[in-house]
Amino acid sequence: MKIVINGAMTADGKIATKRGNSAISSNVDLRRVHQLRNSADAIMVGISTVLADDPQLTVRFGATVSRSPTRVVVDSTGRIPSSSRLLKKANELNTIVAASNRISFANIRRIESTGAKVLVAGRNKVELRKIFRILEEMGYKRILVEGGGELNWSVLKLGIVDELIITMSPRIVGGRSAVTLVEGEGYDRISEGIPLKLRDVRRNANGEMILFYEL
Ligand SMILES: NC(=O)c1ccc[n+]([C@@H]2O[C@H](COP(=O)([O-])OP(=O)(O)OC[C@H]3O[C@@H](n4cnc5c(N)ncnc54)[C@H](OP(=O)(O)O)[C@@H]3O)[C@@H](O)[C@H]2O)c1
Repeated sequence: MKIVINGAMTADGKIATKRGNSAISSNVDLRRVHQLRNSADAIMVGISTVLADDPQLTVRFGATVSRSPTRVVVDSTGRIPSSSRLLKKANELNTIVAASNRISFANIRRIESTGAKVLVAGRNKVELRKIFRILEEMGYKRILVEGGGELNWSVLKLGIVDELIITMSPRIVGGRSAVTLVEGEGYDRISEGIPLKLRDVRRNANGEMILFYEL
């Protein structure tokens, strides 16, 4: 299985403003992201991203649409709203809610009644290693993780990420409560940090730098 993380951040490392506005990528970059989505079997996001952005996680923005990746939400208790765009289209597009044992039967029933599938792994938070294993068993080969910061940390910490693609936008928004590319518990020392190999750097006409790292 290949796991790729893609995220867009400001020059000061934020992936959303303190108010939760996360429209960071230009249309040129969005086209690249959507092309990348088209090469994935599944796109995974955290529940806070769903609550903040109500994403569709489909392939759009002029990208070639040759497939329809499964949308996966990491959501311990199944609090994804029935009114979310993901669940509203769950009868047409493959949708998975990865939950933990904290999910109630009522939420499992509510989510499954929309056509989405519920996978359960983990006691408290979702046990991602197990979810990736289940997805692999289901035939998923390429997973694109699209944040937010908490999910990025958990996936990176597992040590199973193959590639990290970061768009750095030429803008600074500040705000100590603004979410950064990687949140979570963090390491104490720089020397403990996850080493990255810079494989490629591209810049586009909008002054965005796209950094391609291997892990
Ligand atoms: N610019 C970008 O590229 C980009 C991309 C995506 C999101 N964003 C922004 O990022 C913000 C959301 O990011 P976020 O860091 O607050 O949240 P997040 O990563 O989207 O979601 C985190 C939540 O997922 C659930 N979760 C369950 N198991 C988990 C596990 N093992 N590891 C991590 N999370 C787990 C937890 O909620 P439960 O305990 O309730 O399950 C956790 O609080 C939004 O403002 C969004 O707009 C920006």
